[in-house]
Amino acid sequence: MTEPVQLVDALKRIEADGLASIEAADSLEALEALRVRFLGRSGDLAGMLSRIGQAPPEDRRAIGQAANTAKRRLQEAHTSRLAALESAESAGVAQADLTMPGRRAWEGGVHPVTRVIDEICEIFRELGFSKVRGPEAETEWYNFQALNIPLEHPAADMWDTFYLADGVVLRSHTSPVQARIMETHEPPVRVVVPGLCYRRDPFDPTHAPAFEQIEGLAVDEGIDFVEFRSTIEHFVHRFFGRETTARFRPAYFPFTEPSAEVDVSCHMCGGSGCSTCKGTGWIEIMGSGMVHPAVFEAVGYDPERYTGYAFGMGSARIAMLRYGIPDIRLFYEGDARFLAQFR
Ligand code: DAH
Repeated sequence: MTEPVQLVDALKRIEADGLASIEAADSLEALEALRVRFLGRSGDLAGMLSRIGQAPPEDRRAIGQAANTAKRRLQEAHTSRLAALESAESAGVAQADLTMPGRRAWEGGVHPVTRVIDEICEIFRELGFSKVRGPEAETEWYNFQALNIPLEHPAADMWDTFYLADGVVLRSHTSPVQARIMETHEPPVRVVVPGLCYRRDPFDPTHAPAFEQIEGLAVDEGIDFVEFRSTIEHFVHRFFGRETTARFRPAYFPFTEPSAEVDVSCHMCGGSGCSTCKGTGWIEIMGSGMVHPAVFEAVGYDPERYTGYAFGMGSARIAMLRYGIPDIRLFYEGDARFLAQFR
């Protein structure tokens, strides 16, 4: 007769113990651990029930009732404690300090070279230049001949070119897009052409085998050197600042005549000479000139009627100047620590 009393007592102790613990559970995790301990499949209650079979048949009813009561009460306690903890948790969110700064989300940024490209295109957009693009895989005709560069001429060596197939190259500059645009559009033409170019250059602090250029082209009746020069000067002042001056230095390009390289006064030393400008006080930013009549002929424009100017600059070189970056490779390595500085 002791067995049922012992079992019923044990069940009552488990019930009391479980109710107290569940009532005191202070987190959802703690509550879940208690549910497993008391109500779980290998929990305390289940352990007791597995012993019913050892009790005399006449006592089993009382034990069963005690077990059912314990189970029901523990389940009820668990349900109400669960609801209380859950609502406390969401109330905690609602009561949180709303002035607390939010968690900082991951933030992307615009690549410094892309920023420079956008800024340059915007300055020319205000002057009436549209932005156009051309193919990176280009024919020899557009990359060279249409631009008055004979293939056998040493000038072709100026652009040490990657060949994709016979007569097909990776464009070595954006200038071929000049010819493509003129072939398909009548003057007046005013375009800027940002895009990637490729050269068999070493990857060193000032060269990259794939790099961005921006080409510019303006063609109309009556465009003269003064318009060309004042447009470039306007650009230099807008982009580098009023205090920067531009200088036009005679140069040679097969597709322009006369040709000029444009230098800007060194922003580091103001022109007195430093390591950035290698002591000269000037930094070269672009090649340019008045469009050569032979180019107009190649695209079917009348060189007697139309004149124009063109220019081409390396966007990454300009970004190096703008941001004081000593090595062009930093732009192309994709190191997030470097790029994060430009957000
Ligand atoms: N295409 C030349 C280069 O890659 C740059 C250039 C020079 C472009 C003179 C021009 C220009 O449009 O008129 O070195």
